[in-house]
Amino acid sequence: MFANSRSVTTNQTSIHDDLDRVVRRHLQHPWRAPIADHDVQAFRRLQQWRDAQGSERPLMLDSGCGTGRSSRALASQNPNALVVGVDQSAVRLDRATRRFETLPDNLLLLRADCAGLWRLMAGEGWQLHRHQILYPNPWPKSAHLKRRWHGHPVWPTLLSLGGELEMRSNWPLYLQEVQAALKISGIQATLSALPEQHEPLTDFEEKYQASGQLNWRLTASL
Ligand SMILES: C[S@@+](CC[C@H](N)C(=O)[O-])C[C@H]1O[C@@H](n2cnc3c(N)ncnc32)[C@H](O)[C@@H]1O
Repeated sequence: MFANSRSVTTNQTSIHDDLDRVVRRHLQHPWRAPIADHDVQAFRRLQQWRDAQGSERPLMLDSGCGTGRSSRALASQNPNALVVGVDQSAVRLDRATRRFETLPDNLLLLRADCAGLWRLMAGEGWQLHRHQILYPNPWPKSAHLKRRWHGHPVWPTLLSLGGELEMRSNWPLYLQEVQAALKISGIQATLSALPEQHEPLTDFEEKYQASGQLNWRLTASL
């Protein structure tokens, strides 16, 4: 594991001035953009897998799971649940299947864009038991606000999926914005630093920790 990860570089020093306006607009106007065919295919695969495994089992989502380390751990810790690790990168997901000799039966690693998949899940009325989004791409430039999940038009869909939300980041401002966006959306969240030497849950967490960076954790009940 490399201990050479640089801290997030940003031209933003506080919560984005446009956050309130952007979040309120997204809460008021449902996002109606078309959903890509490959996300529809991925959702069909997920539906079939869930039906075969037992759709009454609690559903847990690890969005942006990368190489699947946290998804595998979550599935092992919750054998009664169905865990879905989603990532848009086929390369990262392939690495997951190569690195682990076996994956738990209650885990599906799925290639999809979270925004499309979340909308399809919400459209079918699916409810999550747990939703973790660990080290999402920070999109650190001020101009990137609308690419961050809380500034994205999919934000109300993420909320509607429900469950215990956990997000982690090495950039505390990202999670402070999530906390503020949740408050605008009527939801309280807790934010704190992780202990410096805790057992890392993901590859990125391990890399940031080894580089001497502090990692942060936000939790909320949606
Ligand atoms: C910084 S990495 C973190 C990966 C992993 N959670 C970890 O902590 O090691 C962010 C991951 O999110 C994925 N990602 C970013 N945007 C996504 C999207 N819209 N849909 C699905 N995956 C996405 C990337 O492919 C990448 O694997």
